[in-house]
Amino acid sequence: MKTITQVTLIVFLLSLLVLGIATLLQAQGLLPTDLTLLLTDPTIQLNAVMLSPDTTATASPARDPGVRGGPAGAGGAIVGLTARELEFFNTGQADFESVEAVADGLGPRMNLDSCAGCHAQPATGGTSPSVNPQVGFASKDGGTDRVPFFITLNGPVREARFKFNTDGTRDGGVHNTATLTGRAGAAGCTLAQPDFDTAASNNNLIFRIPTPVFGAGLIDQIPDRVLLANQAANASSKQQFGVGGHPNLAVSGRTITGRTNNNGNDGTIARFGWKAQNQTLLVFSGEAYNVEMGITNELFQQEREQDPNCQFVTLPNDVTDTNVPTTPAGLSGIEKFAFFQRFLAPPTPSTDTPGGASSISQGRKLFVIVGCALCHTPMLTTGNSTVAALRNQAVNLFSDVLVHAMGPGLADNILQGGAQGDEFRTAPLWGLGQRIFFLHDGRTTDLLQAIQGHKSAGDSTFGPSEANAVVDNFNRLNENRKQDLLNFLRSL
Ligand code: HEC
Ligand code: HEC
Repeated sequence: MKTITQVTLIVFLLSLLVLGIATLLQAQGLLPTDLTLLLTDPTIQLNAVMLSPDTTATASPARDPGVRGGPAGAGGAIVGLTARELEFFNTGQADFESVEAVADGLGPRMNLDSCAGCHAQPATGGTSPSVNPQVGFASKDGGTDRVPFFITLNGPVREARFKFNTDGTRDGGVHNTATLTGRAGAAGCTLAQPDFDTAASNNNLIFRIPTPVFGAGLIDQIPDRVLLANQAANASSKQQFGVGGHPNLAVSGRTITGRTNNNGNDGTIARFGWKAQNQTLLVFSGEAYNVEMGITNELFQQEREQDPNCQFVTLPNDVTDTNVPTTPAGLSGIEKFAFFQRFLAPPTPSTDTPGGASSISQGRKLFVIVGCALCHTPMLTTGNSTVAALRNQAVNLFSDVLVHAMGPGLADNILQGGAQGDEFRTAPLWGLGQRIFFLHDGRTTDLLQAIQGHKSAGDSTFGPSEANAVVDNFNRLNENRKQDLLNFLRSL
């Protein structure tokens, strides 16, 4: 009896709260008067914004508040680890930050010499730093590499892929920016860099910037069934706004080259990378060690460049050390990286910066109302994870982890697993407040441009972007409301 009374009271209080929010939005001209419909049918909310935009404000144009200052709020261990788990985290972090050399198996072709060099902003595990380490790396230790035109000191860290081979078949693979040529310890190794200029002039060159790995252990632990249930949710709004999306079901062997490969696969949902091309942090670590740094390992055993004059250590370059009787010390590099990333805490959002608490909370609602949340799902939950700190946790990632057709404007014409040339994973937006470069190729540092970049009409190769109607909704907001949304994004 007592519980029932309590429940009634809570329900009553909640409705008051909802009523209050709705009245507030209504007063600002954002929502129409039909409260019941408004609160039960998200489609109506979206329509309301379209039909009754607030045109009364005489605000200055909304603008991206820029990278949020203050402490990083990221880079530490997730709350709730055991002392032993913390040991794995710390050992993993040290290896993630360690700078590798020829004696460690670096190269013969690579993009840089440490994981943390690319995953740096605003702390180890993040994204591109403000100063691109690839510029200095070109001549490090006697290196004679030319810095390609798309690598600049104040630009984003970039890896390059070619869309096609010279015979017209699909390539899709990473072509490294650096080589061992001229470097200490690599005498006799002379390699030509890829011809990026020709590839660019043939429209055959695309770029990718690093994605952050804060909270990645939580993303690792979201069950496939949760992703599929979320895909099915809000169907009518998604249909109305043309938002689709599908999971990237992993096809083994297609992650690097984009070519089909007849190996079997387990058919589960891949989730990491710009095209959700890799299933787990361990797989991504194995691939990154080989692709970004040229260090072969237990998962990727073959050197990508096998010029016999350029092999200076045994293969694979880094494996579990069977002579070391203890963990985590004896673990191979990729296991250490994976532990670090699994145990890395999610970024901490700000409640009041930039723009103040009420602007941010208004922006949070608008993010849902205009339809951003149809792809950028604010929250998903982990399952019954073996690691207690990751078990049944709310994951505020702002992504559905599905790939969406984003139109010719963003298309890179690279196929990865089930992801087509114009399809990308909804970028998780947590930590956005302290990210410098946006979109898969780092084409902009301005949030407004990142939003407008979602919109493009179809052409003869690709259909229109699934986000077109949602961007139109955003554009209908008045400048004050746009500012609220931008403030919210930079609070993340
Ligand atoms: C030269 C820069 C560079 C280096 C060095 C580098 N990465 Fe990355 N990292 C990237 C880029 C670029 C992407 C996005 C790749 C893509 O999706 O095509 C990425 C993506 C990732 C992701 C996917 C995260 C997500 O949620 O999408 C993981 C995990 C990762 N890197 C781990 C590592 C590890 C571990 C190392 C060291 C062995 C490493 N990276 C070294 C550039 C780098
Ligand atoms: C149809 C699904 C979809 C909708 C709707 C959508 N997004 Fe996105 N968003 C994506 C995808 C996919 C990417 C990655 C695109 C790329 O990099 O090529 C992305 C990237 C972003 C980025 C860049 C993140 C980064 O790390 O570079 C921002 C910011 C962003 N979205 C904000 C928004 C906002 C704000 C809205 C609503 C106005 C919105 N998005 C609506 C799918 C969507």
